[in-house]
Amino acid sequence: MPMNLIHRKFCSSEKWASMVAGVLPGWLAKHDLGDDVLEIGPGFGATTKVLLDVVPKLTVLEIDPASTELLRAKFGGHADVHEGSGAEMPFGENRFSAVVCFTMLHHVPTAELQDAIFAEAARVLRPGGRFCGTDSQLSFGFRLLHIGDTMNVVDADGLPARLEKAGFEHVKVKARPKQLVDFEAVKPGQR
Ligand SMILES: C[S@@+](CC[C@H](N)C(=O)[O-])C[C@H]1O[C@@H](n2cnc3c(N)ncnc32)[C@H](O)[C@@H]1O
Repeated sequence: MPMNLIHRKFCSSEKWASMVAGVLPGWLAKHDLGDDVLEIGPGFGATTKVLLDVVPKLTVLEIDPASTELLRAKFGGHADVHEGSGAEMPFGENRFSAVVCFTMLHHVPTAELQDAIFAEAARVLRPGGRFCGTDSQLSFGFRLLHIGDTMNVVDADGLPARLEKAGFEHVKVKARPKQLVDFEAVKPGQR
């Protein structure tokens, strides 16, 4: 389901872009993403813009056709932009040094599809590659923003077991209730 109008306005706003530009560099500095990174669910590209400043090679995968067109127009010469689902990725196995996603998992309508994304991330990562990101937790404002929109928030307590089932190890999950869940998991093997 595409995002509702208020949500689309917020995610494409200067306010959201400058908030992301303020916090994401600090988060990225704590994660070793390597040389070939895939972002799932870039939306309007606020996170993509920041990633482009710090990763040598960036590929993005967006399910919404209109957003994909927009991303191609904005970042086409700098990022490899693909339309498609993170639950069925159009990439070969063992390719990426890291797979990241920000504020997108709650837009995936079922736990089964989220689990398929975790399994696909494990497949396309190189051994030793990182799957990491952040997502929102439930709060009153968050519920309001998602009226008429998909809102399948990830349960932080259950996330480690789901990531391990998808094939990851060294799973770390940190959650701030009503704010963010932050996760990192490693595909077994040497980098
Ligand atoms: C709220 S936006 C987040 C955009 C961006 N990461 C940010 O933080 O500004 C979530 C995006 O995930 C996309 N999305 C949802 N399900 C997806 C899937 N299965 N595969 C790829 N993208 C997906 C949506 O179309 C939407 O553009």
